[in-house]
Amino acid sequence: MDSREKILIIDDELAPRESIRMVLKDRYAVSTASGAPEGINMMAQNPVDLVVMDIKMPKMDGITALQEIKKRHPDTEVILLTAYASLETARDAIRFGAFDYLLKPFDKDDILMVVEKGLSKRRSNTGLKLERDILLDRASNLEQQINEARSNIMMCYEGTVKALILTIDAKDHYTYNHSNRVARLSASLAGALGVPRKTIKEIEHAASIHDIGKIGIDENILKKNGKLTLNEYTEIKRHPAIGVRIVQSVPFLEDAIPVILHHHERYDGKGYPEGIKGEQIPLSARIVIIADAVDAMMSARPYRDALTIQNVMRELENNVGTQFDPEIVEFVLNGKVSLV
Ligand SMILES: [Fe+2]
Repeated sequence: MDSREKILIIDDELAPRESIRMVLKDRYAVSTASGAPEGINMMAQNPVDLVVMDIKMPKMDGITALQEIKKRHPDTEVILLTAYASLETARDAIRFGAFDYLLKPFDKDDILMVVEKGLSKRRSNTGLKLERDILLDRASNLEQQINEARSNIMMCYEGTVKALILTIDAKDHYTYNHSNRVARLSASLAGALGVPRKTIKEIEHAASIHDIGKIGIDENILKKNGKLTLNEYTEIKRHPAIGVRIVQSVPFLEDAIPVILHHHERYDGKGYPEGIKGEQIPLSARIVIIADAVDAMMSARPYRDALTIQNVMRELENNVGTQFDPEIVEFVLNGKVSLV
């Protein structure tokens, strides 16, 4: 097979077509066509590197053919042949993508020089394109590797969160189920607030382990049916700090720390452990505080029945601005976030 660069000469007149072919045939693989439609058809079967084409042809003029060729083969260079009368047209053709033009009568050396220049441009374009393709290929490989790494990290994260949740379950089954429901409601509230998807997921995970510190609290206090003594209550209040100690050694759980530490703060500053108030309380914690309270009220406990939805709503209303962030609790009160 001829491995030389391919040139197609399109001219309706035999004499110039042949004379150019004679000049080029020793260096390049040359084919000829007597009209643009025929040449374009030939290119569809066998694309070429460069076209040398007359401007004035009866079936399709060179400018129309040039645009057609550039549309179908943007990398093929086109050199137009022109008589002096259509020199302006040839110059205009450059902006339609022609590489150059040759003025009749042709000089053999001119033909060779312009054709070689055109092919050299084509070669460097092809080289650039090849480099670009290689770079794009590498970028897409890297992207795939990053996605795989990200999904491994995510699996590791989910696995760790699940292990922690199961640890809570082993200790206190109520806390386990409660944490799962708080996670779902927190995600709904975060969604209603319009926070980004990634943040919703982080809040959901944080909410699911918000009570992880209860692992470190005496089981008898956790499961006590009656009223807690002051000492027992003081003991219970240690669970946010214990929770932080558990997760702070796991770098990708750091996002959960604000929720674990602050889910018993109150909007008016009368909560614990730090007594911070309003927007000093991280948004994620302000969300979980509401979800935590709602689920606690809706759950039956050994010492009391579950509250009805109406009573939960009334409690929420009564504590707007004192216990709860008014902006977030409003999503529950106006029904945008459903509790059932
Ligand atoms: Fe808690």
